[in-house]
Amino acid sequence: MTPELLQTLRSILGESGLITGADVSARATSFRNPAPMVAAAIARPSDTAQLAAVMKACHGAGQAVITHGGMTGLVDGVRAASDQLAVSLERMNRIESIDTVQRVAIAQAGVTLQAFQEAVQAQGLLFPLDLGARGTATLGGNASTNAGGNRVIRYGMMRDMVLGLEAVLADGTVVTSLNTLIKNNTGYDLKQLFIGAEGTLGIITRLSLRLREQPRSQQVAFVAIPDFDSVMATLRAVDRGLGGMLSAFEVMWNAHYRLITTPPATNRAPVSVDSPFVALIECMGGDPAVDGPRFEAVLGEALEAGHLSDAVIAKSDSEAQAFWALRDDVGQARRHGPGIGFDVSLPNVKMGAYIDEVRASILGRWPDGHFFSYGHLGDGNLHLVACVGSDEPEARADVSRRVYEPLAALGGSISAEHGIGRQKKAYLDISRSATEIALMQLLKRSLDPRGLLNPGLIFDPDPA
Ligand code: LAC
Ligand code: ZN
Repeated sequence: MTPELLQTLRSILGESGLITGADVSARATSFRNPAPMVAAAIARPSDTAQLAAVMKACHGAGQAVITHGGMTGLVDGVRAASDQLAVSLERMNRIESIDTVQRVAIAQAGVTLQAFQEAVQAQGLLFPLDLGARGTATLGGNASTNAGGNRVIRYGMMRDMVLGLEAVLADGTVVTSLNTLIKNNTGYDLKQLFIGAEGTLGIITRLSLRLREQPRSQQVAFVAIPDFDSVMATLRAVDRGLGGMLSAFEVMWNAHYRLITTPPATNRAPVSVDSPFVALIECMGGDPAVDGPRFEAVLGEALEAGHLSDAVIAKSDSEAQAFWALRDDVGQARRHGPGIGFDVSLPNVKMGAYIDEVRASILGRWPDGHFFSYGHLGDGNLHLVACVGSDEPEARADVSRRVYEPLAALGGSISAEHGIGRQKKAYLDISRSATEIALMQLLKRSLDPRGLLNPGLIFDPDPA
């Protein structure tokens, strides 16, 4: 970065708005990567106008930027080079309004998901996006990556909750499109350009978000399931039996369940650790007096039908929270060395055979390795973790090939919810046609002709 640009940025952002030198490397690269952060500087705008001025200056100088939200992403999307400017939305963390009648809120991009959930809940409403990184992940990052999480089966992904947004384009233009209507069919749905674009088309600064009624009842159960066909039968039975109240159906294969319920993991196993499959099933409804007995009856029928071999229903809020803590304890594979993680989607009926095939392939190649699988089965989304003693490029490529190769024939996708970042871009063409990728690149060139916004994410920078 030129000294002139640095000086310009300092005059736009003020002393507290620009971090340089040792204060950059005092930060971690990301939530999961403790290595010192690298960047020419970190810009911390306090409002949209400041960010617009920053981008205008960067555009003039040909300065590339890397956007930072909560940095909990899993596809290597926030690592900057030493000549790139990091732009953090951390100071734009204000919830501007919560309209309890129209059930819509407006918030800045740097608000954490959990802070937003809690503020909405205090008003008797629900913001249904939920994921393990809620305390650190931000709304802007959730939108930029179209985050999914644990309740997609009922409420959809982030894309389904964003009514409108404001974004700063590469040249500093501010597009304010803070629609608050559920239905608004007036031409292109511009917000969708920025949702899931991983910050490559613009920087999201504010969002208008759809809120739901806070459920009055919550039931959570852990169930043991003897085989994969019964997993599918259970999903259909509880979905049908709960009549729209099913809010999560999270499945774990045995190796993963054993991993997270065995020391040094601290959570205890609600059902037998020998269960071939377990599921966390959640139901949220409007009448505790009716919903609890209904939930019990539906699980009872599944037990009688032989779909389940055991079921434990949380008897208190703290027990329900403990079940969710068990579900969200996803870092335990680390005890087996570096893990290579995946986030694939495929038709859920095909998952049993798919996992058997991938596990056999990986453990056949690395007999001392470990393989874990779990995921949002109701959404057709699985997480796979392979520990093969290395996560260096060669091992990663070999494992990736074994995970991705069967996917194409099954009509699957290489990323269900985590996105592409840098980590998955070599495989984008498994899930997207050449015409689709060309259209993405055309959009990128149109909105960011100098290639300054998160260059190298999703696809390599355009040589032209
Ligand atoms: C989860 C993250 C890894 O589902 O997406 O736990
Ligand atoms: Zn997930």
